Amino acid sequence: MHPPALKRLLRVLGAALFVTAANVAAAAPEKPAASPNDTCLMCHADMAAKGSTGKAIGVDKAKFATSVHGQMQFKCTDCHSDVSIDKLPHEPKLKPANCAACHEDQVKLYQATVHGKAKAKGNSVAATCGDCHGTHDILKSNNSASRTNFANIESTCGACHGNDALIAKANLPGGNIRSQYHDSVHGQKTNAKGGAASGAPTCTSCHGTHNILAKADPKSRTAHDHIMDMCGGCHQRVRSNFGHSLHGQLRQTGMSAAPDCVDCHSPHRIQPHNATRFQVQVINECGNCHKEQIETYRDTFHGQVTQLGFTRVATCASCHGSHEILPASMPASMVSPENRVTTCRQCHPNANANFAMYSPHGNAHDRERWPLLYWTKKFMDWLLIGVFAFFGIHTTLWFVRSLRVVRARRAGRPTD
Ligand code: HEC
Ligand code: HEC
Ligand code: HEC
Ligand code: HEC
Ligand code: HEC
Ligand code: HEC
Ligand code: HEC
Ligand code: HEC
Ligand code: HEC
Ligand code: HEC
Ligand code: HEC
Repeated sequence: MHPPALKRLLRVLGAALFVTAANVAAAAPEKPAASPNDTCLMCHADMAAKGSTGKAIGVDKAKFATSVHGQMQFKCTDCHSDVSIDKLPHEPKLKPANCAACHEDQVKLYQATVHGKAKAKGNSVAATCGDCHGTHDILKSNNSASRTNFANIESTCGACHGNDALIAKANLPGGNIRSQYHDSVHGQKTNAKGGAASGAPTCTSCHGTHNILAKADPKSRTAHDHIMDMCGGCHQRVRSNFGHSLHGQLRQTGMSAAPDCVDCHSPHRIQPHNATRFQVQVINECGNCHKEQIETYRDTFHGQVTQLGFTRVATCASCHGSHEILPASMPASMVSPENRVTTCRQCHPNANANFAMYSPHGNAHDRERWPLLYWTKKFMDWLLIGVFAFFGIHTTLWFVRSLRVVRARRAGRPTD
């Protein structure tokens, strides 16, 4: 609709409204005064109504009445504070609803979040109050139908972080996190056992709500320096063991090359620790940082079998542990000379000191550290070359001889 035409229409409607209201007041003086909201709803109760841009402008009266604000008999103009029932018709384009009038704290906090900052920079997809809470249908979080009730958070955040088309269009980080989370050990628990009662986390348990920050922000709950304590809030025993490991110690001093929980477990695809998929996958995670050790491991029987997806043989963690990894030089390490036999005996019941001498990381190219292996490999290499050379020469001579025999036969000469 052309704006001047719309203004005219609104003026006409406004006049009609004024007339109607005056008639009602004259005809039925004993009725209680109409709620000011009814004035707005004269035009906005029609759910099919559309604005000039094609945007739906209907307001569900019944839903609003049962919302937390409707129940408190709030006026439309409490939130739409740039409209007044005394000045109708109103402008076609209005300011966003004003929550700050009553929720100043939440608005301030929100502005500092990753969503609030992106919104301020003009990102039209970043979550606003309304995206997480709704607009005319806001319920308290403890109401099971609320968008912010624990049980519904996955789908509230998932409206964007689980919407493939939107993720691609708006380039949302991390891909389809809703489905990753849904299939994880945490998602399975919260969905099967009805939310918070499971004790497992949903999105906001790890990220917060009015304090969600990007992972690159050092103040974020999910920044690398905070992850151990964030996960450790629930996994206290693991957190405490990990703090004593070499990885944990280095991580606590801020060494970014050392792993924290999500380097081995991932943040959203966390699997049960005994799932084959995890046990096989985590070998590659160790190998991302320990390139040489995964190479030598893959050369061994253990490494070849796990590469095929079987976990009956030793993984890195079978020999080194998971949260208590220490250098072999420390007596408490599972691979220290003191403990090595016990470690092998988990699966090789007859292992003795001699058996444990076998090095799972022997590197035949390293003469300094593995002289025996180095010379054995050299010997085997020369043996192989020798064998090939011998049979190569043998075969060549044999071929020459056969040729000669064939030629002699053709020429009718005697063959020996
Ligand atoms: C006479 C009919 C009429 C009345 C009464 C009326 N409105 Fe509207 N309102 C409209 C129309 C038409 C639009 C669509 C404007 C457009 O998009 O061009 C609209 C749009 C809106 C919008 C959306 C604005 C935007 O920027 O998209 C809000 C919010 C709104 N009205 C709130 C109110 C409130 C609050 C009241 C009561 C104080 C009220 N309206 C009373 C007709 C009315
Ligand atoms: C708790 C605050 C609040 C109250 C109370 C409220 N609104 Fe809204 N309204 C919003 C929010 C939030 C939006 C989303 C757009 C925005 O942020 O302005 C909205 C949007 C609208 C729109 C635009 C269409 C849409 O749904 O996006 C209309 C029309 C509207 N409101 C009318 C009303 C009317 C009529 C009433 C009273 C019956 C009312 N509102 C009461 C918060 C409120
Ligand atoms: C990214 C989603 C998200 C956004 C954006 C968001 N909220 Fe919330 N909000 C929540 C969740 C989830 C809770 C429930 C927290 C809980 O149960 O501990 C909540 C709780 C609240 C509460 C209850 C009191 C409290 O602080 O816990 C109010 C009030 C509130 N939000 C208002 C707002 C306002 C106003 C805005 C916009 C400035 C906003 N929220 C933006 C997710 C969001
Ligand atoms: C006129 C004041 C006022 C305005 C404006 C207002 N609210 Fe509220 N809101 C309240 C009051 C009062 C409560 C009830 C608080 C209570 O009972 O603990 C409430 C409750 C809420 C709750 C439920 C909190 C809970 O306990 O779970 C949310 C969410 C909320 N408001 C969000 C918003 C949003 C979003 C806006 C803006 C679109 C908004 N409010 C605008 C006054 C207001
Ligand atoms: C168990 C805790 C936990 C849960 C539950 C969780 N997250 Fe995360 N999330 C994290 C951590 C930790 C990071 C940072 C990972 C990193 O540094 O690689 C992260 C990263 C992210 C990122 C950034 C991704 C990237 O690669 O840049 C987004 C977006 C996100 N989470 C959204 C969600 C949503 C939506 C949900 C719920 C469906 C959710 N998260 C559930 C812990 C969690
Ligand atoms: C309306 C869409 C929308 C909803 C709903 C939404 N988000 Fe987001 N989220 C975004 C967008 C867009 C960004 C990217 C902002 C930017 O560019 O910095 C983002 C960024 C994030 C990030 C930061 C990623 C990083 O860079 O590390 C986290 C964490 C996150 N969201 C978590 C959540 C959680 C948790 C919820 C639910 C409580 C949620 N989001 C709901 C749109 C949404
Ligand atoms: C170096 C890789 C690595 C890091 C870092 C790591 N984990 Fe683990 N985690 C593992 C492996 C491997 C297992 C499986 C161990 C097994 O099968 O006995 C495991 C098992 C678990 C288990 C289930 C078994 C149990 O002991 O309860 C939990 C819970 C867990 N990890 C949480 C965490 C948390 C929390 C952190 C951070 C404080 C963390 N992990 C850091 C590799 C790691
Ligand atoms: C709100 C508490 C909470 C938070 C935060 C949390 N977890 Fe969990 N986690 C649980 C619960 C509860 C289970 C299910 C335990 C069970 O099955 O017995 C679980 C299961 C696990 C398991 C599988 C355990 C097993 O026995 O196989 C791993 C691994 C794990 N979490 C790692 C993490 C990591 C890594 C983080 C941080 C990114 C994290 N958790 C954050 C509560 C939490
Ligand atoms: C069969 C047991 C076993 C397996 C499986 C195993 N290791 Fe080791 N690892 C050891 C022993 C024993 C040592 C002590 C040094 C030595 O004798 O080779 C060691 C040493 C190390 C060291 C210390 C550096 C060094 O060269 O001394 C790192 C790092 C390491 N392993 C990482 C890994 C990774 C990563 C994996 C999986 C890809 C893995 N290990 C698999 C037993 C094992
Ligand atoms: C994010 C990178 C990262 C991941 C993932 C990782 N580590 Fe480490 N690891 C380190 C760093 C850094 C050190 C300390 C420096 C060094 O000694 O190489 C270390 C040290 C070690 C040591 C002691 C080395 C020594 O000096 O004797 C062992 C053993 C070890 N890691 C095994 C593992 C195993 C097993 C896994 C998988 C379950 C793993 N690491 C996963 C980075 C990582
Ligand atoms: C998690 C179980 C597990 C652990 C721990 C383990 N192994 Fe093994 N290993 C196996 C299995 C299973 C095989 C396959 C052959 C078999 O059944 O004996 C194997 C095979 C071997 C082989 C090859 C045998 C052959 O016949 O070629 C050697 C050598 C070996 N392991 C050495 C070790 C040493 C040394 C340790 C301790 C540092 C160790 N293993 C720890 C499970 C394990």
